[in-house]
Amino acid sequence: MRINTLKDHNVTKITFIEFNGTEHSIDAEDGQSLMRAAVDNLVPGIDGDCGGVCACATCHCYIEGPLAEKLPEVGEAERELLEMAEGVTAASRLACQIIVSGDLEGLVVRTPQGQH
Ligand code: FES
Repeated sequence: MRINTLKDHNVTKITFIEFNGTEHSIDAEDGQSLMRAAVDNLVPGIDGDCGGVCACATCHCYIEGPLAEKLPEVGEAERELLEMAEGVTAASRLACQIIVSGDLEGLVVRTPQGQH
């Protein structure tokens, strides 16, 4: 019988960069949301107040570069919430709506100046 240990989980390297430039590289567990990975790894700048049900926008982040194209398109609920967030750009996403997978190895995620 195979016993599941933490080592059996696939992890993906993600780097979060705070507004002040501080970098946090984490091993995010595949299958969890980018928000949950950030919160579980105590990354400052991603709050996730609603627990990831796309209702608060306190997981607002910026994702650019070639890996951004591998992300699912912004959904309607995500788009509506982003319209109410501060400092939104074309690179804005809600981290709770992005699921970590090996395709995102090396992803760089910038966090905004604050979450409101
Ligand atoms: S955690 Fe609330 S919208 Fe993402």
